[in-house]
Amino acid sequence: MKEISMGQAAKMTSPNPLVLVCTKKKDGTLNIAPVSFFMFSSFHPPVLAFAIGKASNSGENIRRTGKAVLATPGVSLKEAVMAFGSAHGSQKDKLKEVPIALQSVEGSDIQIPEDTRNAFVISLMQTVESGDHYLYLCSIDKVVGDETRQALFAWDGYGKAAPAREG
Ligand SMILES: Cc1cc2nc3c(=O)[nH]c(=O)nc-3n(C[C@H](O)[C@H](O)[C@H](O)COP(=O)(O)O)c2cc1C
Repeated sequence: MKEISMGQAAKMTSPNPLVLVCTKKKDGTLNIAPVSFFMFSSFHPPVLAFAIGKASNSGENIRRTGKAVLATPGVSLKEAVMAFGSAHGSQKDKLKEVPIALQSVEGSDIQIPEDTRNAFVISLMQTVESGDHYLYLCSIDKVVGDETRQALFAWDGYGKAAPAREG
């Protein structure tokens, strides 16, 4: 075993789960950003956690509104995931630049991509400082799923979105 960098470690733990953080901006429009720092942290009650850079628009929105929907993207969203992950909602309307089909989820007024395998309607419980990211601990208010959709995962850190291989 040899010592390696965090970047190399992130590549070696691939694939990692991938969610699209869907939030409402100040002007009421939708913002979407991919996040691979995601985990469940309790079953009873249902809680999840994710971490996103301190300067992200998604973080700003969830701290302001206390609400988000996290959606696991389907395979048709490969290019959109990379585009949404390389622009800030504070600087542009990502959905206008890269339009995708959207759907509504019961229990939320935040829309999510139509090609979604799972969606978690969440409420912010706690924000924890974590170096250059904030860690958001969120109660899961509702979960919906469509098992016919194949989900994308994050490969090579943030480098690539692709399905996971089994076996
Ligand atoms: C596949 C993928 C995974 C990503 N995972 C994370 C993550 O876990 N945490 C993070 O801070 N940024 C992550 N990013 C980068 C953010 O999506 C990116 O900083 C985005 O521009 C933030 O958008 P916002 O400012 O509109 O919130 C990821 C990007 C990609 C393409």
